[in-house]
Amino acid sequence: MKKFLIALVVIFILIQFIPYGKDHTNPPVISEPQWDSPKTRELFMRACGDCHSHETKWPWYSNIAPISWLVYYDVMEGRRHFNVSAWGVQKKNKGDEAAEELAEGEMPPKPYLWMHPEARLTPEEKKMLIEGLKRTFGTKGDEHEDEEDED
Ligand code: HEC
Repeated sequence: MKKFLIALVVIFILIQFIPYGKDHTNPPVISEPQWDSPKTRELFMRACGDCHSHETKWPWYSNIAPISWLVYYDVMEGRRHFNVSAWGVQKKNKGDEAAEELAEGEMPPKPYLWMHPEARLTPEEKKMLIEGLKRTFGTKGDEHEDEEDED
């Protein structure tokens, strides 16, 4: 048992030297969408901005492997799908799904909300953000069932 614990500690220390996920320099903001109101932007930045913009606030534990790997992966994947800091520039940018993702509870991801109480929206705030996202990004329309695009 003691050997096992020592091995765990050694592994924990060793994985800290793996370089993946350590680069937390945010790229510059290139261009933003035409937000329908400052309130929408504010709510978005609170609930979504860490993973869908270049204004990520990296928490202290994002420096500690293996959590750092998960956080880094989420931010990179989040930006790759939908990035309000590269609006009109990044080819794949799924703003038109934002309202739906929020309404259906798909976004923000649950584990993120456990760690970020400030990102939890009240029912009124959630409603406001959904409406604001629709006005800012539009929606895909109702016939999107058969056009689920590849990842
Ligand atoms: C912890 C990071 C994180 C937060 C916070 C977050 N997202 Fe995401 N989001 C992701 C990741 C990772 C993906 C890509 C993988 C996936 O679809 O699960 C994604 C994908 C998306 C997509 C694209 C869906 C697709 O099918 O490609 C939209 C739209 C989206 N998120 C909207 C939002 C909105 C709106 C919020 C805030 C209410 C939000 N996200 C908060 C990580 C995040």
